[in-house]
Amino acid sequence: MSILTINNLKVHYPIRGGLFRRKIDVVRAVDGLSLELQRGETYGLVGESGSGKSTTGRSIIGLEEITEGEITFEGQNLSELRYRDRKEYYKDIQMVFQDPYSSLNPKKRVKDLIAEPIRNFENRSKEEELKRVQELLEIVGLSPEVTYKYPHEFSGGQKQRLGVARALALNPKLIIADEPVSALDVSVQAQVLNFMKKIQKDLNLTFIFISHDLGVVRHMCDRIGIMYNGRFVEEGTAEDVYENPQHIYTKRLVAAIPDIDPENRKEQAAFRRQVKEEYKETEHNYFDENGSVFDLKPVTDTHYVALP
Ligand SMILES: Nc1ncnc2c1ncn2[C@@H]1O[C@H](COP(=O)(O)OP(=O)(O)OP(=O)(O)O)[C@@H](O)[C@H]1O
Ligand SMILES: [Mg+2]
Repeated sequence: MSILTINNLKVHYPIRGGLFRRKIDVVRAVDGLSLELQRGETYGLVGESGSGKSTTGRSIIGLEEITEGEITFEGQNLSELRYRDRKEYYKDIQMVFQDPYSSLNPKKRVKDLIAEPIRNFENRSKEEELKRVQELLEIVGLSPEVTYKYPHEFSGGQKQRLGVARALALNPKLIIADEPVSALDVSVQAQVLNFMKKIQKDLNLTFIFISHDLGVVRHMCDRIGIMYNGRFVEEGTAEDVYENPQHIYTKRLVAAIPDIDPENRKEQAAFRRQVKEEYKETEHNYFDENGSVFDLKPVTDTHYVALP
């Protein structure tokens, strides 16, 4: 059974202006997005800046007012939840943010940072709480000795581990990681990605991994959705997307992934040139007369592309 279903989600922000601050237009941050996630799956939400990735993530955890469409988690329609029941629901879905420097309160010790969500939801004794905090530290690969430290005493990668420990505190079922490594040095990115992948496996979490960089999600995700202007232009298994991209926009993203193997550099450069040409000649075929993205159509059982 699927754990999360998003059906035709739209999130529009009003643009107000004039003397009476009337609504003069809208920003269509998300504009008709559908998605179905299976339990234990890692899904990559990829697209350039402003394509609506964070808005989608924030809608799932209830931080955005939904203009249209439904989000269903474990069979429960989010907008039909009563206020009291929402607390339970949000406990099961946690978000990890991009910037580990600003998402952790600098004045709090590790123990309190991680225990905070526990205190909000569960009644534990001080000893039980400490035990749970140290258990979580161990899961994210930090030693129990860091329990009484402050965030500034950690490196960027370690801070992101703290962020993950905090997100795991209430045994969530779904984690949404919004650009979790973009603020980190390239040298620690791979390390953090690997440990997230390990946690996903060990705890059988369902994972939504948001990134503007198709290269980053490559080894992380089972399936990938490519967003453009609040819609999907393509969706498929990681293999579908990397090996057989169909939409010109996806092709451009694939062509932009740097290849670290010098053997492939020539080939890569040729591919990049070819995609650039193709883009110039055929871009108009991929968008309707208003420049909007078409609806997704199946190419195979797993692979969907927005074509006319
Ligand atoms: N509160 C808001 N009010 C008005 N417009 C907004 C608001 N939040 C986001 N937007 C707009 O919605 C669009 C999608 O934003 P979103 O943050 O979801 O993009 P993103 O894909 O996460 O981009 P990035 O990679 O830069 O994080 C953008 O055009 C943005 O300017
Ligand atoms: Mg974002």
